[in-house]
Parts: sequence; C-alpha cells; structure tokens
Amino acid sequence: LLVAGALALSGCDSTPPEAGLSPSTSPTPSRTFTPGADGVGDPYFPTYGNGGYDVSRYTVKVRYDPAKDQLTGTTTVQATATADLSTFNLDLAGLTVSAVTVDGAPATHSRKRNELVIKPASGLINGNGFVAEITYSGVPKPLRNETLGDGGFLHTSDGAIALGQPESASTWFPVNDHPSDKAAYDFEVTVPDGLTAISNGVPGGKSSAGGWTTWKWSENSPMASYLSTLVIGKFRITTGEHKGRPVYSAVTTTVAKGAADASIAQTVAVADYLETVFGQYPFDAYGGVVVSDSRISYALETQSRPVYAASFFRQGENTEVVAHELAHQWFGDSVALVRWEDIWLNEGFATYAEWLWAEHTDEYTADQAFDNRYARLPAQVWQTAPGKPGVEGLFSESVYQRGGMTLHALRVAVGDKAFFEIVRTWAAEKRNGTATTAEFVALAERISGKQLDELFDAWLYGTKRPARPKAR
Ligand code: ARG
Ligand code: ZN
Repeated sequence: LLVAGALALSGCDSTPPEAGLSPSTSPTPSRTFTPGADGVGDPYFPTYGNGGYDVSRYTVKVRYDPAKDQLTGTTTVQATATADLSTFNLDLAGLTVSAVTVDGAPATHSRKRNELVIKPASGLINGNGFVAEITYSGVPKPLRNETLGDGGFLHTSDGAIALGQPESASTWFPVNDHPSDKAAYDFEVTVPDGLTAISNGVPGGKSSAGGWTTWKWSENSPMASYLSTLVIGKFRITTGEHKGRPVYSAVTTTVAKGAADASIAQTVAVADYLETVFGQYPFDAYGGVVVSDSRISYALETQSRPVYAASFFRQGENTEVVAHELAHQWFGDSVALVRWEDIWLNEGFATYAEWLWAEHTDEYTADQAFDNRYARLPAQVWQTAPGKPGVEGLFSESVYQRGGMTLHALRVAVGDKAFFEIVRTWAAEKRNGTATTAEFVALAERISGKQLDELFDAWLYGTKRPARPKAR
C-alpha cells in the first residue's frame, strides 16, 4: 500500500521518485491482501462472526417506525485488522445496505446470504485500526431456527423486541456476530413519541423532535453480540441507583401490575446476594425488562438488563429466574464463550446459582437439588454430554441440570472453601473476557491441588450417569 501510494504520488510530482525514499529505506516488501473469512471458525456455527478483524466498539443508530415495520439505521464499527485484508465481512440478515464507507472513503459492498462483504478502497493493514460505517434500511425479520428457536427482531403489538441466542444482533445491525469478539456498544434508538426504547447498559437520556424520541444507551463493558437487545413499547418503568450504578427496569403494560413487577424489583437484592458468592457485580448498570409476546417463552441474560417472558411470573413471584439471569452477568456475559460448545459454562453456573439462591432463601438446599436430579432425571440427560451437547442440545436439560450438577460434584470433591475460591477466581481472572472448559478444569485443579480430569470427564463428557461424587 505504501509503495503503491508513493509511486502514484511521484507521477504527478516534479521531484524524481527516488527523492521520496530515504537512503536507509529499502522498498517495503509488497503486502498480500486477502479476503477475511466468512466465519470465526466455530465448529457448531461455521458462518457466525468473521475473520480478519477485532471490533472494539459499535455505534448503532436506528429509527424504527412500528406503523410501517420499517427500520433505518447507520452502524459504525470501530475495529482493528488482524490480517492484511482486501475485503472483510459483517453479519447482516435481511435489510438493504445503501452505503458503506471505510475510514471515510466510499467502499464497495455486496451481499451473500447473511453476509455483508465490504471492499475498502485500499487494503486494510494487519494491526491497524479502521472505522466502517454502514447505512441500511428495511423490514427487519427474525432468523428462523427450528431446533433452537427463532432469534432476532420481532414486530410486536406495541413496538418491537430484538432478542435471541445464539444469534439475534445481525437482524438489526451489521455485526461480527460471535461471542468471541466482544465490544463496547452505544445505541441511539429513535421511535415515535410515546414509545420507550430500552437497550443495554447505562441510560443516556432521551430527546424529542418532530414527533420522534431518541433514546440513548451505552454498554461500556465488552459485550458478546447476542447479549445486545432492543425492546420498544409501553412499560411501567422503575429507575434508581444502587451502589453508584443506575437501575432501569421495565414491565410491559400489556400485563397487569403484579408478580412480574415484584420479582424484577428484587433485582438488586438478588445481585447483592450473588456478589457475596461470585465477587463484584461485573457491569455498570442493573435492570430487567419483562415482555409479553407469544413468540418469546424464555428469559435471556442480555447484558446488564435481562429480558424475561411475562409467563415466568404467571404463577406468582419468581426470583429463581432472576437469580438465573443475574448469575449469567458473571458467567456467560462477563466471562463469555470462545465457542458455543462450551455453553455449560454459562448454563451450568446459572442453574447452580438458582440452587444457591434457593438455599439462601430457605427453600431447598443445593444438596437436595442435586439428590433430586440424581434420582429423577430422565435417561436422555445421562446420554447427552453437557460438555459436548451438539447444536440441537445447546439448550438441553443436560446442559442446564447436569451442568449444575457438575459444579456440585466439584464442590463435594474439593470442599466448600476451595470450590467457592474456584468460582470467584474464575469470575475475577476471566472478567470481561472469554474462556473455555479446558481453562476452567485447569483452574479448578490449580486451586484445589487435586487431579480432577476423571470427575470432569464423567460429568461433562460421559454418556451414562456418573457415580455419586465423594469428598477427596
Ligand atoms: N440463555 C437463556 C437462559 O438460560 C436461554 C435462552 C434460550 N434460547 C433459545 N433459543 N432456546 O436464560
Ligand atoms: Zn441460562
């Protein structure tokens, strides 16, 4: 690039070409710029994410008109090239791109299914930062997934919900859509006056003009893309401050005030309890959003502000699900996955946190939770290895229940003191990062001083019910 630039300049310059090169500079060896890969190489989801760069921040500015189901947006991606790139991809599902610039210069772009391929005017050099700006619009659609459930942008009765795991973000902004590339996010969402637009992180206020209100949110701790959310509608809002952090929670007005509101109101109390077990709460905001839409029957640990289906609260107050989603703030969100196969690192910890919360609130003990499941879980769970669940088994009972039991088996084997030190050290050492199962096993062995490969092999990778754990 540098060489080509120098030659181009020399052609319209009166100085001879060699004058531009200092005597000590031999000509820069020519670089080879190649296309970035269309995936990060996750064996379960080969096209998720992309190769050749690392994103540090997204600025997502979108306007959504529920009456027309129309989204228009500009997303700015600040990234660093990790290879010499002739082109690079972003994940974008549906929507129509009208313009792309890279470092302010127009770039060419094309689409291949859910990949946006961007060709900057000149190649991107390994190690250099760059800024891509993408302007787009269209009617956003969720990504269909029969086994795992749809993910992404849904038009609802009073607005929209963008939510999903393992993917969702690419239905409303161009993104390197894999948890291994965490980044900070700024959101600016413009909706008709009278509607609220809620996203992750710290609320940045709202402003109105010409019948539209713009809501700002920023998530400054690194976040995996599937943990981004956008919920537009009418809500009962609760705001406050806790331990110097803003609290912002919302319950859809499509459900009557009651158990959902009461459960979400316990967010900071549950977080304070979990902090005593896992160490400092990892993010700079708290909250929760309760939605009611027949297509959403789950809760998701969207960073700093989980989203809950109203159905969790139909039978009355439910702080178990709150404990589960808040535990994910440490395990899943702050400590994120390198590859989806290790999902038990998220769900096993979140399930175990439910048992710890139940013990704390005198409902049942973690021992009882373990014994119950050991006796009663169906054969299917013992045949499915939570450490290698397959794509179809990503959210299986084995990942959740046997994942939680794996941690209890570890606790019995190493004793409470070592166990809670392992858990806290895991959260602290991997805070704001990504991690693998092998790293967790190594940490558990390091802290306990015990050899634990047999235990983890049986509990995570075995296809029959392991022996009951014994103290060692
Ligand atoms: N991680 C979520 C939770 O355990 C569950 C998401 C389920 N997603 C799905 N596509 N089935 O709280
Ligand atoms: Zn979970």
